[in-house]
Amino acid sequence: MPKVKFLPSGVECEVKAGESILDIALSHGVPIQHACGGFCACTTCHCEIIEGASNLEAPDSDEQERLSVLDDPTPTSRLGCQAKVKGDVVVRVVNEE
Ligand code: FES
Repeated sequence: MPKVKFLPSGVECEVKAGESILDIALSHGVPIQHACGGFCACTTCHCEIIEGASNLEAPDSDEQERLSVLDDPTPTSRLGCQAKVKGDVVVRVVNEE
């Protein structure tokens, strides 16, 4: 099972492949903003992938469009609600609640 570690909270968990970073965070008590409820319509669930970016499913065109309007993008930015896990990752939550 893929392992996910969240920063700065330090929460670590094992998850089912195919779950989104947002869903994993919410089910493990990790604070993360998600203003649109996970519908790829805001950017508040912005995450920086610190390790394992290739262990996420690739962003689709909708996510790429939202990522292009981030105020503070990083080379490994993803939207937590869209990024589905398929292997081990370390994730920095940009906007904690
Ligand atoms: S929660 Fe709004 S884009 Fe992810």
